[in-house]
Amino acid sequence: MFTSEDQTIYPIAAALSADGSLTIAGSDPQKLARDFGTPLYLYDGQTVRSNIQTLQQLLKDHYPSEGAVAYASKAYFSQRFAAKLAQQQDIEVDVVSLAELKVALKAGFSPKQIHLHGNNKSAEEIRTAIDLNIHALVIDSLDELAFVEQIAAEKNKRVRIWLRITPDIRVATHPHIETSAASSKFGLHVITGEAEQVIRAALASPYFELTGLHCHLGSQLYDPIPYAIAIERLYTLASECGYEPQEISPGGGWGVRYTKNDPLTDPLDWIRTISQTIQQQCERTGFQLPKIVLEPGRWLAARAGVAIYQIGSQKRMPDGTRILAVDGGMSDNPRHALYQAAYSAVILNKPNAKNLVPTTVVGKFCESGDVLIAQIDLPEAERGDLLLIPASGAYQLSMASNYNLAPRPVVLWLEPDGQFELLQRRENPEENSWWC
Ligand code: LLP
Repeated sequence: MFTSEDQTIYPIAAALSADGSLTIAGSDPQKLARDFGTPLYLYDGQTVRSNIQTLQQLLKDHYPSEGAVAYASKAYFSQRFAAKLAQQQDIEVDVVSLAELKVALKAGFSPKQIHLHGNNKSAEEIRTAIDLNIHALVIDSLDELAFVEQIAAEKNKRVRIWLRITPDIRVATHPHIETSAASSKFGLHVITGEAEQVIRAALASPYFELTGLHCHLGSQLYDPIPYAIAIERLYTLASECGYEPQEISPGGGWGVRYTKNDPLTDPLDWIRTISQTIQQQCERTGFQLPKIVLEPGRWLAARAGVAIYQIGSQKRMPDGTRILAVDGGMSDNPRHALYQAAYSAVILNKPNAKNLVPTTVVGKFCESGDVLIAQIDLPEAERGDLLLIPASGAYQLSMASNYNLAPRPVVLWLEPDGQFELLQRRENPEENSWWC
């Protein structure tokens, strides 16, 4: 079971009871799994709130002007989860689709708290954002600038925009989640001159109020230095265009721990670097300090969530590795298949087992890439045992599929003293029309 070293991988409210078994916010995950079935996802409310407040406080303590935390809803979003977030003080939200935008509004976010991203927004998404007068519509290309201008002209409305700038720098992460390199499909590249061209065009148009510059470097980053380099590039570009940004959004991307091999990092390093660089750049250019808008997704949600599966069949491989198959897999967590992501796990009902066996945890889906954990030492296990995978709160359910017509899992929100609420029901093929 977990030691103090892996505590940072588990929800804040995770604890060991006297018999060594894991509890979360006073709930027994084994009982919840029996009552609700598996795969089962749990979100710890305390962890979500504490993570938001930690970043908000760091901004207050280390940046002398305004700062805000905007949750990147693509990490995980559902109507009830969004409503929990909307109750938090001063939180904003980054959405990338009409559906995310509608969920945010329905959950209680005001349009002023919403930024709309995306590299290929539809006319309907753009029209809705303009009609609602959201905080910022984030322009991703010269082509999109012209498209938005045309829609704004038809409506005779002025649109508040940010520009997504791609600073053409490399970051150390999996290539599929790197978004700032010269090869990235996202944003206005500095080296092609498109970034400069779009700043000038936006400033010249009567239909735009250019309030800020944004960049998002990539995801699961542990090094703050690329943020400093990117911000410096944004300021160089802005000052060359004679443009003074009121808001700077250096995106999200700060990394979390999935296993003990991941570094133990402190978001203080991230926020201090961003704050200091912006202050230096404002001194250099003579600009006023802008509002900083951070857009963390993973850092707010990953640690809050755990996934629980039931173990089914097992077998020995020719190399001696044991395979344990669980009742979920790539349909609820495609992250190993997509990024070779590593995870840790515990067998909930064997908290004190000592005899560890080299294991690969696989799912039940018809694809060889359906692996949840490629290599892990786990105790002897039997059919029906419950496997819990921590740090499962980000980019699992939001990327879940119905592969093999698997229903998406049930999700609960945990509060202290064993209280919980349903966030999402398990999909039911009998009721839903998607399988017809
Ligand atoms: N802002 C923008 C514009 C983004 O594109 C993203 C993530 C974020 C903020 C939040 O990044 P975070 O703080 O969560 O790293 N599916 C991948 C991650 C894709 C991230 C896409 N954009 C994964 O499972 O690792």
